[in-house]
Amino acid sequence: TDRRISGFKPTGALQLGNYLGAIAPVVRGQHAQPTVVFVADLHALTVPHDPHRLRELSLQVAGLLLAAGVDPRRSVLYRQSDLPAHAELHYLLECVAGYGEVHRMIQFKEKGGGSGTRLSLLTYPVLMAADILLHDIAEVPVGRDQRQHVELTRDLALRFNERYGPVFTVPRAVLPEVAARVADLADPTAKMGKTNASTNGVLFLLDPPDVLRRKIMRAVTDAGTEVGYDPERKPGVSNLLDLLSACTGEAPERIAPQYHSYGSLKAATADAVIAMLEPIQRRYHELTESDIETALEQGADRARERADATVQRVKSAMGLSRHT
Ligand code: TYM
Repeated sequence: TDRRISGFKPTGALQLGNYLGAIAPVVRGQHAQPTVVFVADLHALTVPHDPHRLRELSLQVAGLLLAAGVDPRRSVLYRQSDLPAHAELHYLLECVAGYGEVHRMIQFKEKGGGSGTRLSLLTYPVLMAADILLHDIAEVPVGRDQRQHVELTRDLALRFNERYGPVFTVPRAVLPEVAARVADLADPTAKMGKTNASTNGVLFLLDPPDVLRRKIMRAVTDAGTEVGYDPERKPGVSNLLDLLSACTGEAPERIAPQYHSYGSLKAATADAVIAMLEPIQRRYHELTESDIETALEQGADRARERADATVQRVKSAMGLSRHT
């Protein structure tokens, strides 16, 4: 059966887009499909960071993944920097990737280019490709913002296989049906993100219920008064409908006619989000640091064998080390 992988960058606290776009789909799928989940701490070094805070955030991300239902007996959950194979495959794939195709990535165009831009921000998608290809992955559940990076991963896998022989499984991105791009509540044209400049429109998984409610009640909506699902013309209202839909499982088009004012839609969305996050927050606060560290260490032990075997195959195919 098809193996899946999902990664989370500890550059800030996890937010609802992370949950709906990737965590929830991974948790739902882990009983049917072998699953790898990891804290992408090497990726967090691509931007300025405080080392102490990075270590804390890595643990927080891992703890929230456990609290959200990642089952460490079923899924392999680990911290990227505990497995040297990521960095080793990253370099080998840099010898397959082209400067032009990496430079064209939308996220680099948006975030990079200024003075002080780290070289690692440019090569970031190649590290992401290494993360995926290391584990013979077929499916990558991600939000829409990561789709282009998975496309690049496909291109690199196909090119490698053509050039050096069939070494890699060729993966594809899997996007959720709703909430593939949760928007910032204060600016529905922007993506909800861990590191958005203002946190007014970002629902963090660990925000207390009153904070969640306040942010949702103050969400920017659109002209008019009618609740309708139209992401192009009514991005604010449609974003709320997406959130409520993701919480209840009912399609946004069917939810819309049930509400006759923006206020009642917001109140229902707040109730649903708070109810969904409450058990996750409770389980998170029950976990100790050593519970989390133990899970991560055991996960790395389980991930190591396959990762090392992949690197060996790659090196051998490329003419490095002893032929196997
Ligand atoms: P990151 O940490 O930014 O986000 C983690 C996951 O959450 C999704 N996501 C969203 N989905 C819907 N709406 C949003 N507003 C939203 N914001 C974030 C992301 O698409 C992602 O699935 N490069 C990755 C981490 C990574 C990775 C990997 C992922 C590194 N290696 C290998 C998968 C496979 C990132 O920055 O995700």
